[in-house]
Amino acid sequence: MQILSTVAEVQAFSARQWSTGKRLALVPTMGFLHEGHLSLIREGAKRADGVATTIFVNPTQFGPTEDLSRYPRDLQGDLDKCQSAGATVVFTPEPKEIYPPGFQTSVEVTQVSQGLCGEKRPGHFKGVATVVTKLLAMFRPHLALFGEKDYQQLQVIKALNADLNLGVEIVGMPTVREPDGLALSSRNTYLSADERRQALALSRGLKAAQALAKAGERDAQVLLERIRGFLTDAKIREDYVALVNAQTLQPLLRLEPGVPARALIAAFVGKTRLIDNLSVVAG
Ligand code: PAJ
Repeated sequence: MQILSTVAEVQAFSARQWSTGKRLALVPTMGFLHEGHLSLIREGAKRADGVATTIFVNPTQFGPTEDLSRYPRDLQGDLDKCQSAGATVVFTPEPKEIYPPGFQTSVEVTQVSQGLCGEKRPGHFKGVATVVTKLLAMFRPHLALFGEKDYQQLQVIKALNADLNLGVEIVGMPTVREPDGLALSSRNTYLSADERRQALALSRGLKAAQALAKAGERDAQVLLERIRGFLTDAKIREDYVALVNAQTLQPLLRLEPGVPARALIAAFVGKTRLIDNLSVVAG
């Protein structure tokens, strides 16, 4: 497994891949890797000749009061995990390599970035879209894999890839969960034992709404109240709870057969902000 730390090294690597006709998969991450990240690397290894993983805690996607300085890191552990999951290249740049002095360009996806996390974390998706565009441009992969765990982020990345004609196949992968349903997240490491139990309300609330919809409930308010009941019972503070069109992310008042819908939650468990989402199908 090759370890790269400069953009020039990445571009030279990419040129070699293209000249030898090898298909490359890219898996961008912020490190502190878990089975969710590794599922993307493994799938990339199946679909391409090589998989590049990036480990970069991107400062521009964190708000001023967010957890950039305490974001968990474990570079050596991450490298070992990348290797066993089948990564062929890992890119671990310093912030100044990605944002050198004089850096002044950003990418903003205007529609699907609105609402949900876009509204609650101003500037977040501009930071995500800019760094992902840079990574796609320097690696020029055939495909790039992202988790549905960050559902709005996935839609933002699909939009920028299409709008900027980057020509990458963007693959969305299912959320990997703990056996009890909690979505894996690097931020789960912040949770105390009690908070870990409280956090189950997110996946349980979503599952309950999904089951209610399957049983015939179409009214968004009823479905959202079911989710809120779980958060309230667990004494978790809602950041948002929403039922949206799965593609446009526009809020839905009612489920309609044949219109894919998604229920999404962001909530604070103690000081830790967790997100989760699930598809909801009208029964
Ligand atoms: P990070 O939170 O490290 O996540 C990296 C990738 O792993 C994302 O595509 C995310 O959706 C996916 N992922 C996280 N948890 C998952 C789970 N439980 N199951 C499946 N996939 C999961 O998302 C980011 O980093 C950053 O915003 C990034 C795209 C790297 C840009 O900085």
